[in-house]
Amino acid sequence: MKATSVAPANIAFIKYWGKTDPETRIPQNNSISMNLSRMTTTTTVEFSQSFASDDVIFDGEKMVTEKERARVVATLDRVRENGGSRLRAKVKTRNTFPKAVGIASSASGFASLTQAALAALGTTLPEKDLSMLARLSSGTAARSIPDGFVEWDKGTGPGDSYAYSIYEPGYWDICDVVAVVSKSMKKISSTEGHALAVTSPFYGIRMEGMDKKLTAIKASMDSKNFSVFGRIIEDEAMNMHAVCMTSAPPILYWESTTVTVVKNVMHWRETREIESYVTIDAGPSVHVICRTTDSDTIAARLKSVPGVIDAVINHPARGARITGEHLF
Ligand code: DP6
Repeated sequence: MKATSVAPANIAFIKYWGKTDPETRIPQNNSISMNLSRMTTTTTVEFSQSFASDDVIFDGEKMVTEKERARVVATLDRVRENGGSRLRAKVKTRNTFPKAVGIASSASGFASLTQAALAALGTTLPEKDLSMLARLSSGTAARSIPDGFVEWDKGTGPGDSYAYSIYEPGYWDICDVVAVVSKSMKKISSTEGHALAVTSPFYGIRMEGMDKKLTAIKASMDSKNFSVFGRIIEDEAMNMHAVCMTSAPPILYWESTTVTVVKNVMHWRETREIESYVTIDAGPSVHVICRTTDSDTIAARLKSVPGVIDAVINHPARGARITGEHLF
């Protein structure tokens, strides 16, 4: 049987950085994100008795590394265990964005792989359980399952740590204009970064302020107060990166273009030209969060910044879904 799923990447407004259990990917804190309409992964999975081993193809990429393949096979194994199957699979996956630029491809990738593999075995799970199964492959993948604006509740353990929708995609007219900044290879993966977080002297301070921050951001989203919301998300991004930069060894995800874009966004605010705010994940690309009415202007300005490869306007989007458009 063959099935295909499309899942969005997501941008975190409150970040997942640090785990209480790396094995089952239980986060230290709840996180809040928005699904991205134009950064998606499509994955087709077929199980068959005629396959001797799992075959993994990343469309448009030169090769699949052994580490990447092992993570895909581990996901297939969990789905096989869930469905009581021993069949081997053919997997083909395609991103709408290049993996190498460091946009969170593991979120969309593992969300779509998990959903497609389950469907290919003829099984379905309630959204909550699908989110938990995707979480085991990559934490952020848990947040790419539900629609729109999402909260991932850390829960009390592996059995209740999952993401759910807090608002539908159409709830709020805001956009994420991604200034895509190139980086050939990530030197420190986000999985390694999570483990290093606790070595930062600032990590305890970050955690102390977390509950207050979560309450404040939810209030700003409830009232759609863009200015308060924007200040919280920018502060949160700086906070996470301060932890990264002060980990042992330090992690600096930013490139010089990253700093240029951040400074531009701050300048537009100071001069009252455009009110937008930045957030940055474990890579050099900058997510500029703005009102939808400002997104075209911002995209045009970002494209003219030297070092910015592209500026992609993302609207809030639905979560992972099954489609009939197979990749093979
Ligand atoms: C920096 O989901 O990539 O994007 O669970 O180890 O696969 P693993 O980590 P991953 O975490 C990336 C976290 C982040 C912030 C966020 O999106 O919350």
